[in-house]
Amino acid sequence: MSKIVAALLFSIALPATAAPLVVTVDCGPAAGLVSPRLYGLMTEEINYSYDGGLYAELVRNRAFLDDAERPLHWSAVAAAPAAVALSLDRAGPPSAAIPVSLKVSVSGLAPGSWAGVANEGYWGIPVRPRTRYRASFYGRTSADSPVNVRLALEDSGGTVQWATAQTALTADWKKYDFELTTGDVSETSQARLSLELDRSGAAWFSLVSLFPPTWNDRPNGLRVDIMQKLVDLHPKFLRFPGGNYVEGNTIAEHFDWKKTVGPLIDRPGHPSPWGYRSTDGMGLLEFLEWCEDMKAEPVLAVFAGYALDGEVVPAGPGLDRFVQDAVDEIEYVTGGPDTVWGAQRARDGHPQPFPLHFVEIGNEDLFDKSNSYNGRFTQFYDAIKRRYPGLQCISTVPHTEPAAKRVLDRTPDLLDEHYYASHESFLQMAGGLYEDYDRRAPKVFVGEWASYETTFPPWDHRSDREPPTPSFWSALSDAAFMSELERNSDVIVMHCYAPLFVNVNPGARQWRPDLIGYDALRSYGSPSYYAIRMYSRHIGDERLRLGGDALRVYASATREAASGRVYLKLVNSDAEAKPVRLNFPGGNFDSAAVLTLSGNPSDTNSIEDPERVVPRAGSLDFTGAAADYVLPPRTVAVVTLTPTPR
Ligand code: AHR
Repeated sequence: MSKIVAALLFSIALPATAAPLVVTVDCGPAAGLVSPRLYGLMTEEINYSYDGGLYAELVRNRAFLDDAERPLHWSAVAAAPAAVALSLDRAGPPSAAIPVSLKVSVSGLAPGSWAGVANEGYWGIPVRPRTRYRASFYGRTSADSPVNVRLALEDSGGTVQWATAQTALTADWKKYDFELTTGDVSETSQARLSLELDRSGAAWFSLVSLFPPTWNDRPNGLRVDIMQKLVDLHPKFLRFPGGNYVEGNTIAEHFDWKKTVGPLIDRPGHPSPWGYRSTDGMGLLEFLEWCEDMKAEPVLAVFAGYALDGEVVPAGPGLDRFVQDAVDEIEYVTGGPDTVWGAQRARDGHPQPFPLHFVEIGNEDLFDKSNSYNGRFTQFYDAIKRRYPGLQCISTVPHTEPAAKRVLDRTPDLLDEHYYASHESFLQMAGGLYEDYDRRAPKVFVGEWASYETTFPPWDHRSDREPPTPSFWSALSDAAFMSELERNSDVIVMHCYAPLFVNVNPGARQWRPDLIGYDALRSYGSPSYYAIRMYSRHIGDERLRLGGDALRVYASATREAASGRVYLKLVNSDAEAKPVRLNFPGGNFDSAAVLTLSGNPSDTNSIEDPERVVPRAGSLDFTGAAADYVLPPRTVAVVTLTPTPR
């Protein structure tokens, strides 16, 4: 009989009476396959996820559309005797999509001085040393002779300028592009971007933009530190653009993808249901390129005629317009350059079609009080399947809903089920939520889930008093829940935590808990982020049968067929260590690595303390097919067993 020596666990005190649990992992023929797309990401504009988050644009209210009266987040820059007046001007805008510009009127300017306007960014503009920024704006002047404009990346008082560039404005709208490169500055999140004129007079500005270096150096691209955190999760898919964000508060405010593609100057943006306006700089193509950069495939949610305020377009001719939008959207994603929308995508800069297997019809349509989803889903399903028979259509109504809510006239390929519940409820669900699921019923996409560890559920505004990301207590129940999803991955095709992002600055958050937090300069992963990373990076393609007390430690076991490597996940949510007898009948291993995530329930990560709870690597002496292991208190453990070469 062989044995694991748990080298990591020497300091763990065992209760005197603890009887070992037994976990048996059958290493003979597999019980079935693991879904190849099990782990992925869900995203929408919430908590300043894109604007002020992943989307690397640093200028806030860049098109002056955030408020109808005032240029929010912009302020006049003038030293006496000069004066600057700022106003929103609707005469002669730079494009039909952006019907307003900022008029900057400078008076009393002494020769050799500058005055104008500055942007404060999303809770500050970050500046790093020796860094190249791409800046641009649309501008014009009324003067007969050109007016010089100076662009500067500077401290919040305008006393130190870290990088500057200059141009001359003319009477017609024109786009100006610049590079700003910093020298040996100290890193700060409290910079501003100023645009100043060298003489009295008026100038108009629109779409003022500033980008730091981006992931893969894409113009209009994504923040590097946050992207790295996502790529590290090895996501297989990205569900976008929502969530509530696909629906909008009203039908007029839904995610209208056709207004999110093409040059930024032609994108009007729109109000998000989370209380602020979206620039739509993250448009359909940017979502797809984001997938491409993560080597993940899109799970495309299409607007399905139902908005959050209850407005519905019932099945019938009135819905045709939205069905056509969805079919066109799929063509934009997958069509060749010989198709109308594939050609548009090529013109937008991406001739290659993107892979697509799943289309989600709406979001959380169980809340539609008129119970119209069956008809709406059917109309979308028929049109999509007619044109794209290989695509799988996802219903947004879970199997537990009453018949009146569910899709009955067609068989959805997948059902999207969402779980937001307490730590305790998640542990309960982890003990068999999907064990008895009817295997003949449609398979499941758990398209949003997160456990919360406080008394306030995410939608309760009192949860604002809690830190934006969850404590280790949640990570334990999240891990236990993922074991349940892995064990049942014959039914669970995909799953993803939600929400993914939160800007941690005061006033930026609408929902907690969230997976990844950031400010202008820094980002961090919550303990749940690390639990997901441990699980998603240690997953085989075959499910192994478990026996004994496996459910009492929320176990899951998978095997990589090619290498024979076995991944065993265990969770101990109790305060005492748990001795576990591990049996691997049919297996023969000569080494095991262990990754553990441990902590106290209230331990958490934050911007100031980003790595308080992170996985620790260790190894076990191991030979053969059985071992005694001591699972530390309050721990998520992933054991990787490497087979003995034959
Ligand atoms: O994840 C936050 C919100 O929760 C999503 O937008 C919505 O789908 C769900 O109700």
